[in-house]
Amino acid sequence: MQVVKYMFQPHGDDRGQLVALEEHKDIPFEIKRVYYMYDTKPGVVRGFHAHKSLEQILICIHGSCKIRLDNGSEKKVVPLEKPYEGLYVANDMWREMFDFSEDAVLMVLASALYDESDYIRNYDEFIDYVSKK
Ligand code: TYD
Repeated sequence: MQVVKYMFQPHGDDRGQLVALEEHKDIPFEIKRVYYMYDTKPGVVRGFHAHKSLEQILICIHGSCKIRLDNGSEKKVVPLEKPYEGLYVANDMWREMFDFSEDAVLMVLASALYDESDYIRNYDEFIDYVSKK
């Protein structure tokens, strides 16, 4: 399984850092939705789903967390610790987010509006879905 991490260009000067993200330039799709998780409680694991068509970029813009990716045959854990790195998560990928630091803010850029029918929330169903492809 190939893990695709984007390293964004920080525009740093003596005031600090700034990262700008543009669709189809820094982000490989049209950004239709942005959401973020914060105040995640200790020990919490989120996600536990895949998407049939949604693409996402995950950026831990503050603090740190880990992402478990699972394509149905292989699993990988990717730490997100820098505000200038983004993890690309394609469709047909089971994901779990865990090990959130107390101050973690995990921001997600998504290629489509929220659509519950695009979710696969049952792991056995996911395995069945990807094995038929
Ligand atoms: P949920 O899918 O449980 O989050 P995750 O699996 O990433 O941990 O989403 C939590 C709630 O937020 C749920 O009621 C659905 C809602 N939600 C939206 O309304 N819009 C969104 O874009 C997302 C991602 C979630």
